[in-house]
Amino acid sequence: RHFLTGATALAAIGAAGIVLRPSLPPAAALAADRAPLRMPTLIDTTQSGRFEVVAQTGQTDFGGRLSAQTIGFNQSYLGPVVRMKKGPLEARVGNTLPIPVSAHWHGLLVPGEHDGGPHLPVEPGGEWVPDMEIDQSPCTAFFHTHIHGRTARDVYAGLAGAIHVTDGLDDERGLPSTYGVDDLTLLLQDRRFTQDGELAYASSMMDIMHGMTGDTMLINGQLDPVAVVPKSIVRLRLINASNARIYSLFCDDGRPMHLVATDGGYLPAPVALETLRLSPGERAEILVDFSDGRAMTLASDGDPNSGMGGMMGRALGMVDRVTGLRQFPVLPFTVDDRLEGSIKRLPDNLGGARPDHDPAKTAATRRFSLDMGMGGGMGGGMGGRGMGGGGMMGGFSINGRPFEMGVINEEVERGTTERWIVTTNMLTHPFHVHGVSFQVVSVNGREPGPEDQGWKDTVLVDGETELLVRFDHPASRDTPFMYHCHILEHEDAGMMGQFTVS
Ligand code: C2O
Ligand code: CU
Ligand code: CU
Repeated sequence: RHFLTGATALAAIGAAGIVLRPSLPPAAALAADRAPLRMPTLIDTTQSGRFEVVAQTGQTDFGGRLSAQTIGFNQSYLGPVVRMKKGPLEARVGNTLPIPVSAHWHGLLVPGEHDGGPHLPVEPGGEWVPDMEIDQSPCTAFFHTHIHGRTARDVYAGLAGAIHVTDGLDDERGLPSTYGVDDLTLLLQDRRFTQDGELAYASSMMDIMHGMTGDTMLINGQLDPVAVVPKSIVRLRLINASNARIYSLFCDDGRPMHLVATDGGYLPAPVALETLRLSPGERAEILVDFSDGRAMTLASDGDPNSGMGGMMGRALGMVDRVTGLRQFPVLPFTVDDRLEGSIKRLPDNLGGARPDHDPAKTAATRRFSLDMGMGGGMGGGMGGRGMGGGGMMGGFSINGRPFEMGVINEEVERGTTERWIVTTNMLTHPFHVHGVSFQVVSVNGREPGPEDQGWKDTVLVDGETELLVRFDHPASRDTPFMYHCHILEHEDAGMMGQFTVS
């Protein structure tokens, strides 16, 4: 029941409590006893123009004697992949749970009234039927509940699913597109379990302060799977659906990950990466070449926010507070040459456009400081509104102001482009904006890294990050858009604001 199971537990803690950088077990050994990875059920709306998701409760057998009481959309834990294309789309969201839920379409560019945020709860026994119009480039998005104050625990318990926006032209682009064969959707989540195999949620103030990270990896809600792939180029649609964990992904044998899409869609051409940082709410599509037939483990470094000693741990690269490890396997891959993979060489032109807003044409500049106040003598931000019983910790807020359902924090003029400058004072925070796809123009005064150079709706901020954002979709006072930290514990505790577009 750990990132590293049984015989492969290699963490060695030195006398000083600093973990010696453990080597990862060989991929083939790691894969040996694992069950094949399952893909979520695919709901293809490209013909029907409609779909339905219903929040329900259930018992989930995660494997390894872990059987937990969970919630999901159309199933006991997590939900389907909903494939959609440009045009009208009728969604129906039902709720058979005793709690209010919502279905926020994270990454869909739709008006506030269809966004599924905190102002659009589906009450127990109720339903919500947004008549949407999909009009955006192909991308991987996702959906999750977004009820203020309980998003973190309900997503943790299972209320999330995936979205593919498609234009049906991936064959022309030379991209793998056979669902579950050479086009894999991977929801990455870390969880903790109790002795009885139930999901365990936050147990200490650290779990709120750093966000709730776990010691057990689930891929698509499955414990310890292995992905069996064809001897070809394979596309991985990575969705960080964790509450708080920031992954720094790499292939254990050093083979490159070719980044082809960020949150908002395709890049102009693949970019070879050695590591890929993916924070909660972010998506990335990568191509990995398995044509040599060799097994490989997708692995990650520890979470920069939960390093022992917080910021100091971050600088020193120390052990992850929760896992006790410096690195851990996310998912092993083995190759089966009976599987049919059609793509043998990397595409060179993906047709995506680089974000190119004109900085000279911005209508306004706004600053957002993602504030964490600490206990122990610091005055500002104390009082911890929304902290749910914490006492020691101060507030989570943006510009010193914790989220309030009744307060519109910003009013934006529709059709304009603005400069948004986002800063942090402690830890790193994934900043997400609803209803837009933005351009990252600078990170601490420098060019953004490759994973931030495409269209984004979520970006990890550590210091100061400057964005150019164009607002095309309307949002009224009744159903405003949110901007927030996507560490869900921070969001629930008040690190969120809302804005209208009119
Ligand atoms: Cu994925 Cu406002 O959220
Ligand atoms: Cu969102
Ligand atoms: Cu945060």
